[in-house]
Amino acid sequence: MSAVTVRVPAKVNLQLGVGPIRDDGYHDLVNVFHAVSLFDMVTAEPARRLEVRVQAAPHSRVAIDGVPTGEDNLAAKAARLVADRLGVDPHVTLRIRKAIPVAGGMAGGSADAAAALVACARLWDDRERPVLTRDDLMEIGAGLGSDVPFAVLGGTAVGVGRGERLTPALTRGTFHWVFATADGGLSTPAVYGECDRLRQEAGQPAARPAVAAELMTALATGDAKGLGAALSNDLQPAALSLRPSLRRTLDAGRDLGAIGALVSGSGPTCAFLAETGEDAADLADALDGADVARQIVRASGPVPGATLI
Ligand code: C5P
Repeated sequence: MSAVTVRVPAKVNLQLGVGPIRDDGYHDLVNVFHAVSLFDMVTAEPARRLEVRVQAAPHSRVAIDGVPTGEDNLAAKAARLVADRLGVDPHVTLRIRKAIPVAGGMAGGSADAAAALVACARLWDDRERPVLTRDDLMEIGAGLGSDVPFAVLGGTAVGVGRGERLTPALTRGTFHWVFATADGGLSTPAVYGECDRLRQEAGQPAARPAVAAELMTALATGDAKGLGAALSNDLQPAALSLRPSLRRTLDAGRDLGAIGALVSGSGPTCAFLAETGEDAADLADALDGADVARQIVRASGPVPGATLI
């Protein structure tokens, strides 16, 4: 096998219910993940040692300066874990072409790790009945980050625990999204920390989150308006507190006709739902003119997880 390329999607959280902080420092979540058609590509190629190269995808304005290229890169860690499990040397060059914003709340780093898991497994486990199943890769991924298993799985799924214990959700049709990316990322631990701080300040202890029934109904019936009304993100007040300018971005999307608007995950990317593909195109054009984002990107979901191409 000479080179393997995997395409992997970004995610937006349709519901991010954040519960109390656990003894291990993580928060108990109800996390409804939705994979959208904004993709990173990862190519794994045999090499003399483990190496990671990162570039922006063609036509993408992703700022890649913050992405580590050494052993710290989550994709490199993924390659190492797959090699360990298969008893081979982790000698591979991983070429990552990024279209998913870096530290943008769309799980771009987790996506690259998921892609590396799938690509390296294919490169080193090339037999009719592979040793490592998709479930094995998701389990290995959970050790790398809470969002990695979902980037392997894709579609729409409910995650509990840290967000890594997944159940696929029933959906109907396609949902049309517009994303507004921001200059500079937000640190996920900092946003969770701000969420805890704001709750403490307000004297509001975290309740155990539950899946929103209206959200699941809207997904199952393909009801875009219902989905727009049911979107929720407990991290949004924290992201807005750390990055107040996002309020203007969210307001602009709502004023310009979005049927749902929220910060994606820990931000700073903002996600807007439109009723049809045409509405999404109109909204994207209007947001482009409003000068409230680094880049305006259209995408639809759900789409499959990390896929060999
Ligand atoms: O699992 P991952 O490394 O992606 O998480 C990044 C950070 O996000 C964690 O270190 C933690 O601060 C926060 N986090 C959390 N609760 C979760 C998931 C993530 O507090 N369920």
